[in-house]
Amino acid sequence: MIWRENLLLHIKLAATASASLNSQSERKERESEMVGPKYDCLANPLGAVRLTFEKAIASGADPASFDGKDWGAVDLFRQFLFEDGALSHVPILNPTTIKWVQPNTLVRFRGMIQDMLGNEFYAGAYKDGSVWRTNKFMDVCQYPMGSSPDMRIWERRLLYCVPVPGQNSWTESLSEVAMNKTSQQREKRQRMEDDASNHMDLVLVDEFESSPSVKKMRENGHASPSSQSKDSVIEGTSNTNFVTNAERNSLPCLVKIYDCPESELKLNEVFEFVGVLTLDSDVMADKNDQDESSYGFIEDELVHLPPEKVPRLHCLIHRKLDVNDFLHSSPMMEPKPQLVKETRESLLRHLTSILGNDGIAAHLMLLHLLSRVHARIDNVAVGKLSLNLTCLSKESVSVFGNQIRLSVQNLLPFTQCIPLTVNYLNTASLAPKKDYQTNRLIPGVLQLADGSHLIIDETQLETGTLNSTGVENARLLKNLMEFQKVEYNFEYYKMEMIADVQMLILSEGKSNIVPADLVIPFQPSSAASFEVVPAETLEAWRWYLASVRSLPHSIESDMQKVVESDLVAARQADRSLGGQDLSRLLTMGRLMSASFGETSLSLEHWQMVKELERLRRERLK
Ligand SMILES: *[C@@H]1O[C@H](CO)[C@@H](O)[C@H](O)[C@H]1NC(C)=O
Ligand SMILES: *[C@@H]1O[C@H](CO)[C@@H](O)[C@H](O)[C@H]1NC(C)=O
Ligand SMILES: *[C@@H]1O[C@H](CO)[C@@H](O)[C@H](O)[C@H]1NC(C)=O
Repeated sequence: MIWRENLLLHIKLAATASASLNSQSERKERESEMVGPKYDCLANPLGAVRLTFEKAIASGADPASFDGKDWGAVDLFRQFLFEDGALSHVPILNPTTIKWVQPNTLVRFRGMIQDMLGNEFYAGAYKDGSVWRTNKFMDVCQYPMGSSPDMRIWERRLLYCVPVPGQNSWTESLSEVAMNKTSQQREKRQRMEDDASNHMDLVLVDEFESSPSVKKMRENGHASPSSQSKDSVIEGTSNTNFVTNAERNSLPCLVKIYDCPESELKLNEVFEFVGVLTLDSDVMADKNDQDESSYGFIEDELVHLPPEKVPRLHCLIHRKLDVNDFLHSSPMMEPKPQLVKETRESLLRHLTSILGNDGIAAHLMLLHLLSRVHARIDNVAVGKLSLNLTCLSKESVSVFGNQIRLSVQNLLPFTQCIPLTVNYLNTASLAPKKDYQTNRLIPGVLQLADGSHLIIDETQLETGTLNSTGVENARLLKNLMEFQKVEYNFEYYKMEMIADVQMLILSEGKSNIVPADLVIPFQPSSAASFEVVPAETLEAWRWYLASVRSLPHSIESDMQKVVESDLVAARQADRSLGGQDLSRLLTMGRLMSASFGETSLSLEHWQMVKELERLRRERLK
């Protein structure tokens, strides 16, 4: 029972500590009220939360009516971040910034929802004497010992988020510039006010963690105290077995979501979360424990996510990000026809030069880079255009392959490259897999955000035997290429997730693992030339690719007739052409007009597609 007393002591002290934090920030608010802005939303977001809460209570609102609702706090932050333009001053959480950002300040995390950990209950509001207080947007649970009838249990969602897989480093520099200013301000502020209560919390946690009984619990695998007491959840901090290598190098984040419909946040979607950072251990206690099992579920989750490895973000506001949000130059810029045309020309020249002057390959590469799934009809992912660059030898791939890879990395925000060998297929974890022991979804290589680019380098493929893992992995790749779907492995069942991943294959032309949409024998006529691309040019290309690929598209009725009769004629000339080939031609038409910044197919662009296709087929002979 020693640990239990320790826990009670800890909670009591934590409550005192946050009370002192409260009074400290209350003082600060009074001070700042005199000088100017009422709330320091950046440095003391919880102060703003509390003041709006008190205001709502003072105006006669019943705390019970706040369940699942905003009492004005989120509105305040929305105004602050978007209307007052403070968003760019909010530091982005990453392995660098985590070293200096302070707990209980406002931060942003940009990442992909990798796993959903269910819901968590917490004491959302409680009466402290005659005063209502709230615990929303914080970890530390503080309320008077002994059960209180005046306590409201609320619910929040837990999302496990990771940096977007394959996110290229150039996407980050912008945020660092924006942050630089804030960081300096923050350091200054930090020097001025030493946050005593935070130190206190940390010391307390250490003390608590080193108690022998807690150690013992941890040795038993997890710190689940449910057999001894059902009113507490303790988070172990030393069990790092379940933090994978990738997680060590990049910073994941446990995002706690309030008051949001489930359908709004889905697996693999990319979001920016703005909220309150907490790094200290969660200690939750609940006297009115009516539903033990719901607590037990979360307990186990959190034990495997030590807060010093996985910071928590109590989300005030989230917004979905798309590729444009990762660019530096403003994506809001109207794509002017002349500008688009020039950018297209210069990008095409660049692609031609890295492809050893193979103009046809460069044109197809451009269309490929612009492709995306824009509709699903029955089982067909419309708009995808995977490209298979064949006839690359082991030697040429070391030159051209590297150039292509580097170039794609520089152009698109999220890129991955997999070396397709028999050994790779036999050993890789391509599909995400549910681990019921830890209740986590173990990421697989193919758990990717929409708009990711994947290079598959087949040139190292040797003959060998695929075992059952290899066969399964080959099947996963084939399904991704054909249907843009990935089957997630839930052990007892498979769950099919739709994807939007552009796939580029570099091959020698021997295997037959996955059929790409377009095969083009690569015919370089010169060495790959290495060119230094000015930063502005690079940014223009990124902006071009991100902007024109999202353009809408239509085919006017007169063009529709032309296209139809062309397709019929093509079919008559070559009986082997299937529906897929025809739909691929339409996709190429769409991409060709998009590449010129146009939204409806013109005769000129359609003819360009037909000519390109004729040249490609000639090469295949
Ligand atoms: C941040 O500011 C410092 C000094 O003001 C400057 O030297 C540094 O280059 C800046 N860093 C970034 C990423 O802008
Ligand atoms: C397949 O082969 C790899 C490497 O040879 C091995 O590590 C793996 O366990 C094998 N898998 C199966 C299911 O046999
Ligand atoms: C690429 O093309 C070559 C030659 O047609 C073929 O052997 C290989 O299987 C293709 N790979 C993919 C992924 O389509």
